[in-house]
Amino acid sequence: MSSELSRPKPDFKGFGYRIAQIENNTHCNYKCWFCPNAYDTPAPKACMDLELFSHILREIRTVYTPWELNDVSFATYNEPNLDETFKEKLQIMTSMGFMYEHISNGSMITTDLTDFLIKYPQNIKQFRLNIPTLDESRWKNITGASVSVMYKMFYQLDYLFTRASQLNFGITVIVNGDGSEEHKQEFQKVYQKFQHTKNINFSMTGLIDRAGTLADAECETQKMASGEIDWGEQPLRCNAGYFENLYFGIKGNVFYCCHDYHQKHSCGNIKETPLRELLKSDSYFQHKQNFMHEFCRKCEQARPLQTVN
Ligand SMILES: C[S@@+](CC[C@H](N)C(=O)[O-])C[C@H]1O[C@@H](n2cnc3c(N)ncnc32)[C@H](O)[C@@H]1O
Ligand code: SF4
Repeated sequence: MSSELSRPKPDFKGFGYRIAQIENNTHCNYKCWFCPNAYDTPAPKACMDLELFSHILREIRTVYTPWELNDVSFATYNEPNLDETFKEKLQIMTSMGFMYEHISNGSMITTDLTDFLIKYPQNIKQFRLNIPTLDESRWKNITGASVSVMYKMFYQLDYLFTRASQLNFGITVIVNGDGSEEHKQEFQKVYQKFQHTKNINFSMTGLIDRAGTLADAECETQKMASGEIDWGEQPLRCNAGYFENLYFGIKGNVFYCCHDYHQKHSCGNIKETPLRELLKSDSYFQHKQNFMHEFCRKCEQARPLQTVN
């Protein structure tokens, strides 16, 4: 057993601000090689109804002022744009003053949605689009989706990107990968395909093995970094600040970390107990301790409590 990382520390230090992650829907149309969706059984297909969604937002406001928590994202292991009530949810959030961070694979950002966002600007912080390749011969192997999805997406994103100056938020294209030469090539190709569009940022981003749950993940050209991690029984903290965030599952369950694919560790349900009580309950601290001992100990983003980085 080792309390040191058996591989280089990841760059990612979290969002840098507190965020509420709300699982607006459960399903995804991809199976990216670096995502548990490619290896595990996804949750049954479901969409959160507007009543529960609004209830969650109201409950957040009973605990946090807008200065303390004002950002919302929908991304769990879903594709948020597959939710037919996406626009309505965006409008509800905007009307309540929240800011939305869109984390999406970009495949369902229709020209219709772009027109809507230009005509009716919403409170959007940014679009972070996960596009790990645009190479026709690699597409299926890397994303698990058919090539026709890639072509349709490219057309729709071109429409969005060429209108970037009319939008009230920034767009970043994220090319996830293992840091290898092949990853670099994917990044360059994605960049070249969109380089004619102005005001778009590009990021070549590394991977997290999600507390060892993706240790064996690979595709034909890339592979998850190897090296088991075990911080042991010592007290830990999250270097990415994930314990500062809030996580709400599709059924209103409150959980601790986005890496917990099955949302196994929960302190209760917001439909039954006010958020303020849930976050102060013995159950919250007990489950958090269990989560740290079982899950965080294998996570590369965890650190011993007393360390500073
Ligand atoms: C799980 S996805 C869900 C939302 C959407 N389907 C998407 O792909 O953006 C949320 C974010 O996690 C990133 N991601 C997925 N697997 C990852 C991994 N193993 N390590 C780091 N980031 C990952 C994606 O690039 C995306 O930005
Ligand atoms: S990373 Fe996103 S797009 Fe890819 S399978 Fe996971 S949830 Fe779907």
